[in-house]
Amino acid sequence: MLILGIESSCDDMAASVVEDGRKILSSIVSSQDDIHKKYGGIVPELASRRHIETVIPVVEEALKQAGVAIKDIDGIGVTQGPGLVGSILVGLSFAKAVAYAMDIPFVGVNHIEAHPMAVFLEDARCKMQDTGSRNLYGCDRYAGVKPAATHEPKTPDFPFIALVVSGGHTTLLKFKDFGDYYIIGQTRDDAAGEAFDKVAKLLGLGYPGGRVIDELAKQGNPNAIEFTRPYMPDTFDFSFSGLKTALLNYVKRHGEIKGKLLNDITASFQEAIVDVLVEKSIRACRENSINNLIISGGVACNSRLRHKLSNTADAEKINLFIPSPLLCTDNGATIAAAAYHKFKKGSVSDISMNAYASM
Ligand code: KG4
Ligand code: ZN
Repeated sequence: MLILGIESSCDDMAASVVEDGRKILSSIVSSQDDIHKKYGGIVPELASRRHIETVIPVVEEALKQAGVAIKDIDGIGVTQGPGLVGSILVGLSFAKAVAYAMDIPFVGVNHIEAHPMAVFLEDARCKMQDTGSRNLYGCDRYAGVKPAATHEPKTPDFPFIALVVSGGHTTLLKFKDFGDYYIIGQTRDDAAGEAFDKVAKLLGLGYPGGRVIDELAKQGNPNAIEFTRPYMPDTFDFSFSGLKTALLNYVKRHGEIKGKLLNDITASFQEAIVDVLVEKSIRACRENSINNLIISGGVACNSRLRHKLSNTADAEKINLFIPSPLLCTDNGATIAAAAYHKFKKGSVSDISMNAYASM
């Protein structure tokens, strides 16, 4: 079964052709970092306008690289939400139009549900293409990658806990089966990636900030500045805005931040976020008696998080599944994989289906 997955919930326009929910035949991502970096964050109107320009070439390139024509596609999966509604509408309207014109079934996919599907698309430990860099996609109009297409995935058994941690979401989910899951915790304010991006802006490090902080932090001392960890032990919810304010206050007290101090402040801030993400994910596994854990989303590219969570999971005898960075960030392949399982269960969306900013 060949599924075309289309993703446009934020600032990436992505399309991918996936066979039987596992084998990636193509994955194209058109990044917009070049547009938004001068504003230090995503400008929703600019994002949807660029999506209108890129949706057709990105889908055409995905079909071309997969060596298939639109008539070969058995179903279309498309992000229905959550995200920026103007952005989602571009991919969704396009998917509906193609589905209607070509008489192909289509199904709406929850973006957060799709992120953990990355581990079903490749080897769980993913040594291939594991560079930690989103820039493999480049900032071109579109750039193609074929992640791990020949790789036989080592996949988790159900049930599993999934941590989806990105610029828009910090969500802990319990999955009982494909499409059968519920939220056990989520952020009450900033998403972890949003905190990285806002702090990077504050420190004059550009946008998106996660990867830059990750790099600078490698030269810094994570114990140099003692930021309080918002553990909130009675809940699996997260809150990162206080941490951001603590950093802001530190910056106000110390004036210009550069050199060794910049490395130390980024390392200390990153360590506080990583500690909370690790503690909550492991505790979610323990308290639910589940020993399979998946992390995905852009922040799952973070080298310190990958390292610390791997060590802690090993010590706790929890099987950790981390997709390659290429599949952690937004892409069409995870949408196609989630759609495949929906089609298998008989789900098909109606042409009247709407886009939702929150789901
Ligand atoms: O999943 P994604 O591509 O888009 C959303 O759905 O938000 O995630 C983008 C987010 C950004 O906030 C970016 O700063 C963060 O992921 N990110 C990182 C790293 N690479 C990307 N955060 C920390 N460390 C990284 N290495
Ligand atoms: Zn995402």
